Amino acid sequence: MPIRISDIPDECLIHDHLQESFSLTEHWEALQKHDPDELRPLYSSYNLSSFQINFEEINREVEEIYSRFEFQGWAKPGTQKYDRSYGGIALTQNHNQQLDWKRGLLGHEEAMKKKFNFSKWKNLVNSKGHFQFLKNTLQEKRRGTYYDSYSFHIPTKICDEFREIHKITTLFKRPFFRSRIATIPKGHKIEPQEGWHRDERLFLFYRAIIPLQTNENCKIQVETHEGKKDFSPQVGMAYTFNTRLPHAAFTTEACNFDRHYLVFCFSPWMDFSREDQSFQLNEHAGKTHPFDLFNFHTFNAA
Ligand SMILES: [Fe+2]
Repeated sequence: MPIRISDIPDECLIHDHLQESFSLTEHWEALQKHDPDELRPLYSSYNLSSFQINFEEINREVEEIYSRFEFQGWAKPGTQKYDRSYGGIALTQNHNQQLDWKRGLLGHEEAMKKKFNFSKWKNLVNSKGHFQFLKNTLQEKRRGTYYDSYSFHIPTKICDEFREIHKITTLFKRPFFRSRIATIPKGHKIEPQEGWHRDERLFLFYRAIIPLQTNENCKIQVETHEGKKDFSPQVGMAYTFNTRLPHAAFTTEACNFDRHYLVFCFSPWMDFSREDQSFQLNEHAGKTHPFDLFNFHTFNAA
């Protein structure tokens, strides 16, 4: 039976309700028995060359987007200000009109204004204790806020108005959520601990990272089952990795260009109808690992 967003009680985050209703945790445990995450490679990559993407033009579009709508710095908890060394602009927006369409998913603004002690943060992320810590400290894991990941399902005007970016959004077989342009502006060096975090469980979202402008110094670090590992995503490819493990984007030195990625989130085991805003469990639940969905079921044939 499909579940419509309008049927989900107001006090629940959309994904919490779906996780419970579709027994996603049980499906995940069934998958892990025959396809454990530990045996998966650090990342999977997908070659985009057959799609004839004009990266020069798309980077020009990104410059135009920032000149028209402004680069949005990340709302970093406890800092009282937007972080100008990392940010971007949203490609999907929340149906809650109180959130700014450009930046609703670029950090939680309420958390930015509150007191927040970062000294224990990295240890908390590694031990998974940060979710409880966030809940206790911020008490903002409410419907329609930054934390309501599945509510960010409406493509922003950027996806319609900019031709090359629009073209990228048509490559996907699946609807995307919580998606953005992610930029490290020129001249900034970022350490891995600055952005250290975990994202949603993989049965809720797997991500596709599409670098637009980058080089070898721009990396992603992941705390894997075998310790810390890095990789440098390259233009012309899309990537996914286990974003539930602690990770961060960082640079080994300040770049003399703006590093731009596109980041898209996809639901592996629930299909979503944009028309009636409803979710339904699909045939991959408990059977297909999200990395395999990325490899075989995410991009349309060129
Ligand atoms: Fe992440």
